Amino acid sequence: MPCTVALLLSVLWLLLASLAATVNGTEQKAGCKSKCGNIDIPYPFGIGRQCSMEKWTNINCNTTFSPPKPFIATSNLEIVHISGFEVRIKNVPATSCYSQSGALVEDFSLLNFNFYGTPYTFSTKNKLTILGCDTNAMSGSANYSSGCISLCEKRENLMNSSCPGIGCCQTSIPKRLKEFYVILGSIYNYTNVWSFDPCGAAFLGEQDMYTFKASDFFNIRSSLIDIPIVLNFAVGNQTCKEAKDNSGTIVCTENSDCYDSVDDIGYICNCSTGYKGNPYLNKGCQDVNECEDGNNPCEGICINSEGSYKCSCPDDSYGDGRRDGSGCTKKNKKIPVLQLSLGLGGGIVVLLLGGSGLFHSLKKRQVSKLNQKYFQQNGGLLLKQNIASHEGGVESTKIYTAKELKLATNNFDRSQILGQGGYGTVYKGTLPDLSIVAIKKSKIFDESQLGQFINEVAILTQLNHRNVVKLMGCCLETEIPLLVYEFVSNGTLYHHLHENSDEHSSVSWEDRLRIAAETAEAIAYLHSAASTPIIHRDVKSANILLDSNFTAKVADFGASKLNPSDQTQIDTLVQGTMGYLDPEYFHTSQLTEKSDVYSFGVVLAELLTAKKPLCFERSQERNLATHFILSMKENNLFQILEAGLVNEKNTVQVQALAKLAKRCLSLKGETRPSMKEVAAELDRLRGFVKQTRTKHSSGKTMSVECDLYAIPSGSYSTDGTSGLYSMEKQMLRSMNFPR
Ligand SMILES: *[C@@H]1O[C@H](CO)[C@@H](O)[C@H](O)[C@H]1NC(C)=O
Ligand SMILES: *[C@@H]1O[C@H](CO)[C@@H](O)[C@H](O)[C@H]1NC(C)=O
Ligand SMILES: *[C@@H]1O[C@H](CO)[C@@H](O)[C@H](O)[C@H]1NC(C)=O
Ligand SMILES: *[C@@H]1O[C@H](CO)[C@@H](O)[C@H](O)[C@H]1NC(C)=O
Ligand SMILES: *[C@@H]1O[C@H](CO)[C@@H](O)[C@H](O)[C@H]1NC(C)=O
Ligand SMILES: *[C@@H]1O[C@H](CO)[C@@H](O)[C@H](O)[C@H]1NC(C)=O
Repeated sequence: MPCTVALLLSVLWLLLASLAATVNGTEQKAGCKSKCGNIDIPYPFGIGRQCSMEKWTNINCNTTFSPPKPFIATSNLEIVHISGFEVRIKNVPATSCYSQSGALVEDFSLLNFNFYGTPYTFSTKNKLTILGCDTNAMSGSANYSSGCISLCEKRENLMNSSCPGIGCCQTSIPKRLKEFYVILGSIYNYTNVWSFDPCGAAFLGEQDMYTFKASDFFNIRSSLIDIPIVLNFAVGNQTCKEAKDNSGTIVCTENSDCYDSVDDIGYICNCSTGYKGNPYLNKGCQDVNECEDGNNPCEGICINSEGSYKCSCPDDSYGDGRRDGSGCTKKNKKIPVLQLSLGLGGGIVVLLLGGSGLFHSLKKRQVSKLNQKYFQQNGGLLLKQNIASHEGGVESTKIYTAKELKLATNNFDRSQILGQGGYGTVYKGTLPDLSIVAIKKSKIFDESQLGQFINEVAILTQLNHRNVVKLMGCCLETEIPLLVYEFVSNGTLYHHLHENSDEHSSVSWEDRLRIAAETAEAIAYLHSAASTPIIHRDVKSANILLDSNFTAKVADFGASKLNPSDQTQIDTLVQGTMGYLDPEYFHTSQLTEKSDVYSFGVVLAELLTAKKPLCFERSQERNLATHFILSMKENNLFQILEAGLVNEKNTVQVQALAKLAKRCLSLKGETRPSMKEVAAELDRLRGFVKQTRTKHSSGKTMSVECDLYAIPSGSYSTDGTSGLYSMEKQMLRSMNFPR
């Protein structure tokens, strides 16, 4: 009886405590409005001069609109969101539309922003995006200029994607940009594309918020107006240190810290760790009660204190009480409950212990429920089934718990990061048995691809090839699935070829040939594996890992597709890496195994030349594949090989490898060799290397053998049909307008 009362009381107490925290949350000065319409206006922004820090944070809340709309000071820039130092404003795109005959019918083709003298700069989260199929745009400011050209021929080529490169092109903007103009133009006044694209646009806007759709061309202004422009706000024009040294005053209040702004102009304030609220207001930063937080860091008892908290364990268990630490372990199962219900005298003690105990066990149940939810949402059950149906695979596919991987990576500490890229982040992890693994945390996870993800994980875990990085297991309890791979210690082929500081890369010819052969074998294995061939889709030197013996291991199947065997082609959104991308696939969106062959051809060219696949410093040809093919055609192979690579012993193999690369780089997929043929050819070449060491066989017979695959004439042409190449060139050129 007394026990239930105590529990009820403590629940009530917890409820009250959480209420108090939300009541306290206003971020405005006393007597000032904290909202304009539906938009929160936190100080230093404010409605009216006495409510704002300065002229440019004085918000004009125009009540003619319903609901009212906030504008920056006296400008016509409408605010849609303010958080921390970021202010998002409604987009103002440059647009122009044409009639069928090519006459300009709607013209907003000039745009100019100027934020000099204000606390705002453009955030680099914005990209300059140009939309249209007959569109060019120049943009910039006093000391930077950029632009790009977007041309396309057919409506069928347009795809929905963030900015697929057809009908849409994008460029970054520099840091610290205060001023920005854009001039929109056209080459043929849209007369060639009018039926599916009568308009063009150029806008600066938050990249992550825009997804291209062909239908945007028909209501171009309204489809862009909701892509916000992100502005960075900062106080003054000095760094924290300068402000302290010069005037001795900064506006950051008690329990807050000063940070130099991301743009190096002015500074911003932020509540210190353990505090929350508005760092610009007097007493604005309030203690956070970590113990009430959804991510309560304690596994045991949590005690809040000013700016901090402490974890401990109940009497009957030991440990540091932290989720990311040793947690709490029961000492021995004995009879603690009886003692509690008997101890009527120590009422308050019972109430507190009972309260935090109940809270803790609720919390624990919530967390494990959430884990379970993610597990299901991420297809855990499907995977379990799938694994069970692959007899014998059970042992190799391990499902790790979130806790295990958190411990292995020291709570995903930055110091454990092995690599980072568009796909996500890879951490180094140490499992309890001291084995080292690589743990990949993907960036985004699209639910629609779930079935495929599961399938891929299930199949990859079945793969067993010494030149494919082994997937050891995964964790499905987190929002985004985590993948656990074997750890490969010696970096990537890309690193060894391009990033070693010595003048010449340190990979010997024999190693190069072996790495090529091993990689080819691995990809051939994928293409022919089991019942469902796998297309890697992102073959590149950065995805070829090397272990301590320089053995190649193909990695990163993030983009890979399972190719159902009854279909030889799959339609996909074009995905891959610039410089390695199969032009035929780029053009038709039809993925076949031959796309991997093309990308592998680029890797071969890299092995021969030690040049990067895309290089903006190269004067004539920025695309290595094109550069390589042209040089072969003009009999200039030896000029582009890496200096010192060729010697009298290996001339024949170098030439044979170059010919093989050329065939892989053939523009038409059909005329490229299969990966199996490539692997066989490389094997033959390697045999030759060994022979020359031992036997000195005559060059004559070998050159016959190396010519086994005659090069089909006309498989490559630089003009006429290869509009694609010029298109890729065009795009690259446009990314590099004069500065
Ligand atoms: C509010 O908006 C209306 C309509 O755009 C405009 O006419 C008016 O001048 C604005 N008022 C203020 C105070 O800016
Ligand atoms: C760009 O030019 C403006 C004035 O012409 C100058 O104030 C500013 O510092 C320059 N910005 C950069 C990044 O050089
Ligand atoms: C692109 O998106 C639009 C609207 O969401 C849809 O109608 C269209 O079918 C999509 N097109 C492609 C190729 O996915
Ligand atoms: C495009 O339109 C402009 C202005 O409307 C006109 O001066 C020019 O001749 C047109 N060019 C073409 C190629 O139609
Ligand atoms: C910095 O701002 C102050 C006042 O806001 C102004 O007087 C000063 O000229 C500015 N300095 C620079 C280098 O822009
Ligand atoms: C400010 O604090 C928040 C919450 O503590 C944090 O997420 C953010 O990164 C901090 N900003 C800066 C610039 O340090």
